[in-house]
Amino acid sequence: MSAEPEACKRAAARAALAEVRDGMVVGLGSGSTAEHFVAELGARGLDIHGVPTSERIATHARAHGIPLASLDTVPRIDVTIDGADEIEPHTLGLTKGRGGSLLREKLVALASRRVVIIADASKLVAALGERAAIPVEVIRFGWRHTAASLQALGAAVALRTVAGQPFVTDEGHYILDCQFGPLAEPGQLATTLKELTGVVEHGLFLGVAHRAYVAGAHGVQVLDRPGPCAGCTH
Ligand code: A5P
Repeated sequence: MSAEPEACKRAAARAALAEVRDGMVVGLGSGSTAEHFVAELGARGLDIHGVPTSERIATHARAHGIPLASLDTVPRIDVTIDGADEIEPHTLGLTKGRGGSLLREKLVALASRRVVIIADASKLVAALGERAAIPVEVIRFGWRHTAASLQALGAAVALRTVAGQPFVTDEGHYILDCQFGPLAEPGQLATTLKELTGVVEHGLFLGVAHRAYVAGAHGVQVLDRPGPCAGCTH
């Protein structure tokens, strides 16, 4: 198989179609890999409903003929298929949020019976934080003070911007990209971040994913997380 990133993303997305059957409610992740999945899912023509994790993926899903439902109108989500920025292969710990949808992505993932990650092999890391900054979604009011609190934890903090203006999430918040470097204790940092006033959510997804389809030059690798799930509804 070509190791070209788009071909790998598409291969991972195709492999994840095996997770979806008629009648299911499917959480639709955000990002370029999730967009490949939505295109493949739409082409398959299954009788499903999708719960989108961003306005952008909702638009994409509608364009591919996928009927949508909102998180608050479905009794359950059977499976969520989403991308990731980093994957630690032994625990399936993730960093997510480079696209800015981490809050809705986490809410949908935690409401799902099963969470499946699709990615190209460049996303595999030995330690979370090794390559990606941890995105932290914060309320706009007093964001500089929240940034100072994050700095005090040892992070290099940058307000995410687009065309010179602060990036605003679908929920109306800012994102502070926090470079901590490789994390020896991601669970500890996740707890600390949640305790900071002004922080809405962070991009560490620990104990959430059940399976990852990771595509590289040698095909699609299936990684399953051993042990129980931290917060999902199953
Ligand atoms: C969106 O906010 C993110 O969590 C994406 O799922 C993640 O950044 C992966 O995106 P790509 O599939 O574009 O690499």
